[in-house]
Amino acid sequence: MHIDLLTVLPELLESPLNHSIMKRAQDKGHLTVTVHQLRKWAVNAYGQVDDYQYGGGAGMVMMCEPLVAAIEELQRERRFDAIIYMTPDGERFEQKTANRLSLLQNILIICGHYKGIDQRVRDHFVTHEISIGDYVLSGGELAAAVLVDAIGRLLPGVLNDETSALTDSFQDGLLAPPVYTRPAEFRGWKVPDILLSGDPRKVEEWRHDEAVKRTEERRPDLLD
Ligand code: ADE
Repeated sequence: MHIDLLTVLPELLESPLNHSIMKRAQDKGHLTVTVHQLRKWAVNAYGQVDDYQYGGGAGMVMMCEPLVAAIEELQRERRFDAIIYMTPDGERFEQKTANRLSLLQNILIICGHYKGIDQRVRDHFVTHEISIGDYVLSGGELAAAVLVDAIGRLLPGVLNDETSALTDSFQDGLLAPPVYTRPAEFRGWKVPDILLSGDPRKVEEWRHDEAVKRTEERRPDLLD
């Protein structure tokens, strides 16, 4: 998979996407991430990419020209299966969206800033508008990093048995069960006996029951 990102703050994306599993995904060749500085397509020598909004009001709007010039230049290199705009008024990001997007070849992600991007770019180029939750971030970069991480770890070959995505929370519609490691007793707090029983069928049953219990307690909406 190839993911291109358009941003005025590439620095915000570099660290999260170049460590741990995202680094491994790229080193192994499963994922290529290219971060583009939008100011490369600025309308003037000052690097301008935003302007005042029509109708008045506080806050700048990211202009059509730089965004469209960038998108069209990148489209000459790759055919995008999705052009995603990160925005708090988009569709809420969930595991099933990550699963679906992980099947695509080429994705372009636009990180908004200020009051957002000119509506005409949304109308004529953007195919998906995604929010990572009901709160407002200073820009789309951290949201985009969340998206790339959630998608990247699902690409075949990225995770091994130990980190398998199949046992993640949400993959089976439930929250993940509790986990424990050594020692078997710490300050008098014991690991549940079943996990030490060596009976894989019982362990599986216990994990399922705990996952259901946790989901009922914390996220009953997932069981509806
Ligand atoms: N940009 C600002 N806030 C955001 C959010 N919650 N989700 C996606 N992009 C955003």
